[in-house]
Amino acid sequence: MMRSYLTRIQDRIRKVFRCVLPEMIFKENMTSSEIRQSFLDFFKSKKHTLVPSASLMPDSPNLLFTNAGMNQFVPIFLGQQRCPYEHPRAADTQKCIRAGGKHNDLDDVGMDTYHHTFFEMLGNWSFGDYFKREAIDWAWELLTEVWGLPKQRLYATVYQPGPGDPAEFDHEAYDIWAEKFIAAGLDPKTHIVNGNKKDNFWMMGDTGPCGPCSEVHMDLTPNGDTRGKLVNADSPLCIEIWNLVFIQFNANADGSFSPLPARHVDTGMGFERVANIIQNSNKLTDFSGKFSNYETDVFQPYFETLEKISGKKYNSTLPEHGNSLSEVEKIDVAFRVIADHIRTLGFSIADGIEPGNTGRNYVLRRILRRAVRYGRNLGLTEPFFYQLTDTLADCMGPYFPELVQRREHIKKVIQTEEESFNKTLDRGIELFQKEVEKLDGEKTISGKSAFTLYDTFGFPLDLTEVMAREIGLKVDQEGFDKAMDEQKKRAKESQKKEIIEVSDLEFTSATSFHGFEESKSHSQILDVLDLKGRRAVVLNQTPFYASMGGQLGDEGWLVSANGNRKWRVLDTTKVEDTFLHHIEATADVPEKGEAVDALIDLERRRALERHHTVTHILHWALHEVVSSSAGQKGSYVGPEKLTFDFNQNALTPNQLEDLERLVNEKIRVNDPVSWMNIPYNEAQLREDIMQFFGDKYGDEVRVVQIGGKPGSLDGYSMELCGGTHTRASGELGLFKIISEGAVAAGIRRIEAVCGAAAYEYTREELNRLQRVAKILGSPVAELEKKAESWVNGYKDLEKSLKQIRAREAAAMAQDWLKEAQSQGALKFLGKDMGETDPEIFQAAAEAIKSSFDGVAVLVGSTGPDKALVAACVYKKYTKSHPAGKIVQWLCGRLGGKGGGKPDFARGGAVNLADIQPALEELKERLKETEFVQG
Ligand code: SER
Repeated sequence: MMRSYLTRIQDRIRKVFRCVLPEMIFKENMTSSEIRQSFLDFFKSKKHTLVPSASLMPDSPNLLFTNAGMNQFVPIFLGQQRCPYEHPRAADTQKCIRAGGKHNDLDDVGMDTYHHTFFEMLGNWSFGDYFKREAIDWAWELLTEVWGLPKQRLYATVYQPGPGDPAEFDHEAYDIWAEKFIAAGLDPKTHIVNGNKKDNFWMMGDTGPCGPCSEVHMDLTPNGDTRGKLVNADSPLCIEIWNLVFIQFNANADGSFSPLPARHVDTGMGFERVANIIQNSNKLTDFSGKFSNYETDVFQPYFETLEKISGKKYNSTLPEHGNSLSEVEKIDVAFRVIADHIRTLGFSIADGIEPGNTGRNYVLRRILRRAVRYGRNLGLTEPFFYQLTDTLADCMGPYFPELVQRREHIKKVIQTEEESFNKTLDRGIELFQKEVEKLDGEKTISGKSAFTLYDTFGFPLDLTEVMAREIGLKVDQEGFDKAMDEQKKRAKESQKKEIIEVSDLEFTSATSFHGFEESKSHSQILDVLDLKGRRAVVLNQTPFYASMGGQLGDEGWLVSANGNRKWRVLDTTKVEDTFLHHIEATADVPEKGEAVDALIDLERRRALERHHTVTHILHWALHEVVSSSAGQKGSYVGPEKLTFDFNQNALTPNQLEDLERLVNEKIRVNDPVSWMNIPYNEAQLREDIMQFFGDKYGDEVRVVQIGGKPGSLDGYSMELCGGTHTRASGELGLFKIISEGAVAAGIRRIEAVCGAAAYEYTREELNRLQRVAKILGSPVAELEKKAESWVNGYKDLEKSLKQIRAREAAAMAQDWLKEAQSQGALKFLGKDMGETDPEIFQAAAEAIKSSFDGVAVLVGSTGPDKALVAACVYKKYTKSHPAGKIVQWLCGRLGGKGGGKPDFARGGAVNLADIQPALEELKERLKETEFVQG
């Protein structure tokens, strides 16, 4: 109540002040959260709908990561989707990664003050609504009036095309900017800089919505008097802070540009850069200090954590002499790189993109490995990177809750990756150093060495390049590519002969597939291939499904037209559009041109169909029960079972039960399972159709739908899928989950069965239970009670047994005491008990301690290279021969450690072969009036 009252008053004061003293408001100590909020509030006041950041996983198949705020709006720009916002305007902060593809800043990260792999882009959009006038007016208002950036330090760029470039010189933008600068008493000729297609025509990728743009740059030199000379000159003292794009075209794959049905605005502001300017200029009055995105509350917390972990300090230096770095510079680069990279890794993993071997996943692995290697520059040799996850979740969690929700998962994925790279990193670094020593003044690391580092030690090429750059060297990339090609060739050659022979054949004849509707066909043999040990028959048409997308290929028979000859089909695969029916190479060879009946093993096929269909229902149920972010990572569909891999944490027993129940409920409803082909473009626009972004689909895709009305695309489950399915869900019978467990970092696997396999599984489990009941002589219903009482009885027995053995050990110890001999002034017993267990050892030691009046030492082995040691010293000798020192000495002599009080001490040892000689030596030492260790 109190807080909202105060906020209202503050708002009112700010509003009043904004009219009176526009340039003095809001610039005092704004935190980055306040900056983000004030951007969003500003555009909210201009009737923009505030939308959440889209996931870093892009919808567009030609992007590796979401790389700009506009990505999520592409279908609206292209006119494929209606704008859903009340006023056709939106604003947000968007998580972006630029570490691959058209926009890639990876190599600059750490070396300068303002490039990042991950950054937030603040943006406002008009969807066919306002255009250049409002976009520029509001940009100027927010920058100069709300935030108070000094106008004389601002520069605008506008588009000036070169010959053959799209669109005209942007007069309209020029005139609006000129108006602003003139009103501020500044010369537009100085403050507006024309830029070519490279700088002032924005494209998301090679294709997609695009248009001329107009950027705002800020002069950060001490006097702010560079008169536009540093604009677009790659200087940290004059940086672009906001890009206003006027989207008017679609870039086509053939390089042409088509006008879009409407004109749009797409702006993007570098959030970290604005935080840098506002937080490092002493309320925008002093530009003599350092400007760096890293010297803000966006990055400082990571530095604090890193300082704690490494004991090193961040000194804010930048590489001064090209690429050869001083020690301090190396440390500072490492700080910046690591702080940058944890954000990329953490945010990506939270969005379900994890380090891996291909595509965007490999980009993440490369970035992570870079961070781990940079950790070595801070002296960090144990996994450390994952520890920054907490800093990330604490700093950014309030605005991006996914970081908090997935905190433990992020940590686990990073830690596992770190541990695995750590295994080879140091050996790789050693190899690298050896190679450098061998160079003898040359400046290039050979491609072969870089390839060995890649192939054997897991060093991505760009990491080797980073290491080379640090000491002023280069890597022979051509040589690396050549080594890679050669290795690929070798791998191909060593693949199964069958595959080579098949893939080397030229297939001119496509097989037409009828297996969605038919289980047999009259076919003609187009070809018979000899695969050494097997043959593959190519038919003109077939009902056999060829293995794909996790579903196994069909088995069955080919029968000659007269019915006399029969070949068993053991598997079906396909190469492009040619289906290969694999049969055994018997003496009776089917002939090219021959007519055959192709019959699939229908019972097996039905089992496959059931397992495939239930995979879809399980996928749907997983979203219902666990999370809609649980994405499919792979599957196996066989006649005996299915497995389904997905990215998630371990499921709880309750979640598993709910999943199983929900799937079985859906089975009982007996919904129709139907399919239809639709254009891929259409499918892409449907969020309710499951598809795997990044997968290649043709122009037409097959949607398999469960529930709803066939042909209406209104099922509860809809997936792009080329597999075979049952006709209705009721055919699945019963669904049973057999297991759930981890298969890789962050990837879980459910193994399950349905239909006949589920019946067999449950029957077998019940039989097992009955057999156990029989052995225990109890009806199944009372089995638990019976088992419980058996287990309790067993535990009691074990306890009594231990007590008996301990009593025996104590009695035995009394016997050993008889073996004690005088050594100098005291009696000594040195006893090697041989194999024993810790409890018995303890009991014997206790017994000796309470009844012996000399010095006793016991040794007993509890494993092949593990022994326990104890010493008991009678109170008379504790000063001259303290037990703690005796044990310390003896354990040290036997390769272990130990110690304790003067009257009783314990320890462990490893060199069992030395026990006897060590006890002998001890005996000698005890003859002295005082025990001396050395
Ligand atoms: N799409 C433009 C950019 O990324 C403006 O948002 O720079």
